Amino acid sequence: MAKVLALETSCDESAAAVVEQSDGRLQVLSHQIASQIEEHAQWGGVVPEIASRRHVEALPHLIDQALNEAGLPISDLDAIAATVTPGLVGALMVGSVTGRTLAALHNRPFIAIHHLEAHLASVRLALSPPAPPYLVLLVSGGHTELIRVDATGVLERLGRSHDDAAGEAFDKVARLLGLEYPGGPAIQAAAVEGDTTRFTLPKGRVSKPGGGYYPYDFSFSGLKTAMLRQVEACRTWDQPLPLADLAASFQQVVVDVLVDRSLRCCSDLRLTTLVMVGGVAANQRLRECMHARGADQGVEVHLAPLSYCTDNAAMVGAAALGRLQSEAISSSLALGVSARWALENCAPLYQSNPPF
Ligand code: KG4
Ligand code: ZN
Repeated sequence: MAKVLALETSCDESAAAVVEQSDGRLQVLSHQIASQIEEHAQWGGVVPEIASRRHVEALPHLIDQALNEAGLPISDLDAIAATVTPGLVGALMVGSVTGRTLAALHNRPFIAIHHLEAHLASVRLALSPPAPPYLVLLVSGGHTELIRVDATGVLERLGRSHDDAAGEAFDKVARLLGLEYPGGPAIQAAAVEGDTTRFTLPKGRVSKPGGGYYPYDFSFSGLKTAMLRQVEACRTWDQPLPLADLAASFQQVVVDVLVDRSLRCCSDLRLTTLVMVGGVAANQRLRECMHARGADQGVEVHLAPLSYCTDNAAMVGAAALGRLQSEAISSSLALGVSARWALENCAPLYQSNPPF
C-alpha cells in the first residue's frame, strides 16, 4: 500500500489531493480544488501573474484540507508529488517549491510529474480502468494529441494539432460569441437547444508536403476563422445572433473531427480500446458521440471520470503512484520547472542531475 500527497498548479486551478494505491487499485482519499476561473474570466483568459499569486494564497490551505479530509499526517505518506512541466512557469513554481519543501522537511521522496502524464493517468481513477495497449485522445486547453500506450506502458505520439488545441478553439470561439471564459462549458450550455447542422464548417486537415493529408493530425485555426466569417455574416442580418445554432454547429464539427480521427487511428492500428482524457473530454456531446461511434466500430471507450477531466491533483497522485510502483524513484530537490517539455522525455525528471 502506498499513499502520496499531490499538488497541481500548472495553470488556473490550485489543487491538492491524497491518493492511495492498494492491490493495484487507486483510491482518492481527498481532493481539493480552488478555481481561479472567475477572476480570470473578467480578462477573457488566464493572466499568468494573477495565477501565481492566487496559487501562493490558496495552496497551504488546500494542503491542510486535503490532509485533514484524508485523516493522515504527512509522516504517513510515502511521497510528495507536484506538476513541474509544462505550464505557466510562475504557477508551476508555486506547486514545485511547496512540494520540494515538504519533501525535504519530512524526509520523503519528491516525485516530479509531467502534466500530460497526469492527464493520461486520470483514467486510472475510473471504477474499472482499462489495461494497455490502447489509444489515448488527450484533449485539453493546451494539447490535442493521439498517443498510443503499448502493453508495457511505452508512449508514442501519433497525432497532434498543428495550431490551436481543441480547448483553445472552444475558448476563442466562445469569446467571439460573447460567451464567458472558459469557453468549453459555456459553448456546451449555449448549444443545448441549437441546430448542429445549421452552419457548414470546415473539418481542418493538415496537408503533407508531397500531397495528401496527415490522417491523425488536427488543425482548428481555419474553423476559428470560418466562425468569425459566419458571425460577421449573421451580424449583417439585423437580427439577434443565432447563438444556440452557432454554438451547436461549432461544437459538433469539433466533436466529429475528434471522433473520426481517433477511431480511424484505432482501426488502422487494430486497437480496440480508446481512452479520452483532458478538459475537453468533459464535453457531454463528445462523451456521447465517442461512446456511440466507438461501439459501432467495436472499440471500447474509456473516459476519465468527469471530475478528473479538467485540471486536478488526484490525477497527479495517480501518475506519481504509477512511478513509485514501477520504478521506486524520486526527483532531485534541485529540479526546477519548465514551460515546455516533451511527454516522451520524462526520464530526466528522475535523474540526480536535473535537466532544468
Ligand atoms: O485540462 P484542462 O483543465 O487544462 C489544460 O491542461 O489545458 O483543460 C481546460 C480546457 C479549456 O480550454 C476549457 O474550455 C475546456 O478544457 N473544457 C471544455 C469543457 N470543460 C472544459 N471544452 C468543451 N466542453 C467542456 N464541457
Ligand atoms: Zn490540464
